[in-house]
Amino acid sequence: MPTVNDNNYDSFVEPNHDLHQLVSAELFSPTVDETLWFFKELLGMTEVRREGESVYLRAFEDWYSYSLKVTYRQSCGTGRTVWRTSAPAALDRRVDAIERYGIKGSWDDGDFAQGPTYSFTDTAGHHHSLLWDLDYYRPPESQKSDLLSRPQKRPTRGIPVRRLDHVNHLVDDVTTNREFLRDTLGFRLRENIVDRNGREGAAWMSVSPLVHEIANLGDQSGQSANGNGRLHHLAFWYGYPQHLDDLADLCVENGVEIEAGPGKHGVSQAKFLYVFEPGGNRIELFGDAGYLIFDPNWKPVTWTEENVDTAVIWYGSPLPTEYFLYGTPNNGPTNYRTPNDLMAISRPR
Ligand SMILES: [Fe+2]
Repeated sequence: MPTVNDNNYDSFVEPNHDLHQLVSAELFSPTVDETLWFFKELLGMTEVRREGESVYLRAFEDWYSYSLKVTYRQSCGTGRTVWRTSAPAALDRRVDAIERYGIKGSWDDGDFAQGPTYSFTDTAGHHHSLLWDLDYYRPPESQKSDLLSRPQKRPTRGIPVRRLDHVNHLVDDVTTNREFLRDTLGFRLRENIVDRNGREGAAWMSVSPLVHEIANLGDQSGQSANGNGRLHHLAFWYGYPQHLDDLADLCVENGVEIEAGPGKHGVSQAKFLYVFEPGGNRIELFGDAGYLIFDPNWKPVTWTEENVDTAVIWYGSPLPTEYFLYGTPNNGPTNYRTPNDLMAISRPR
């Protein structure tokens, strides 16, 4: 009386738990004041420090000091994505794995409120940092909440987001970078889209029960061919659908461009809204129930040309073509590839 699927054991690869969570991300903005207005007044984030040309912001359920660093640059885009390991020794093991892969990073003393940090560039040109040691948030007396499981009072501005959720990076070659992230950092593939030519068009990966902390999206504009590390979007967790509707309402009323949504993705099952913060970076508001993965032997969900439209839009309006072309930094559309099945979902149905 077999009670298990032998195939589960045949293909089982023990998960590597050395990498633990997404800590913070950096956005470049040519209009820092306007970008700060967006994050502070609409998304209810709290400024914790200014240093040089950077401003550090936190969501109200961040246990660490901050999750967003906004830095002035002439062009928008993204800097370091910071990850925390599960232990000091885990950090050493991941550094060793990266260097054995053939990528040489470097150590520094760490950014504000962050300890010794190892930074490197992935195969697509995105900058990552790994650390163990960092500062937990200590709110001023006026911001301490009686709700002891909340690191600060819920802000009274805008519709406050609760935490940073994930980064979505544009890449020229999804499979190569996904395998790098798997082999060096232990990211497990949760869902992906494979087009009719067998090319992986997008991949969603995580080291936790979340469906993804990082996604790679094939860059249809050709601008990632040089490995320049373009950002597709940075996503913040808003909570429940009413919060999303209220945020959309605030965006329209305050002149913030909505690119798509509110709608619901098939991938991850999340309800989403994509907007452009005033500096030009695409921001996703991501939330609702979604789903979580606890299976240590999870088989990736693969979407193909037959169901790619469901993968991207479960309900809501189709995504505009620009969704698959625009990223930051943006140098204008060049060298478009033949639209693949991912882009096909932008066609009216
Ligand atoms: Fe996303």
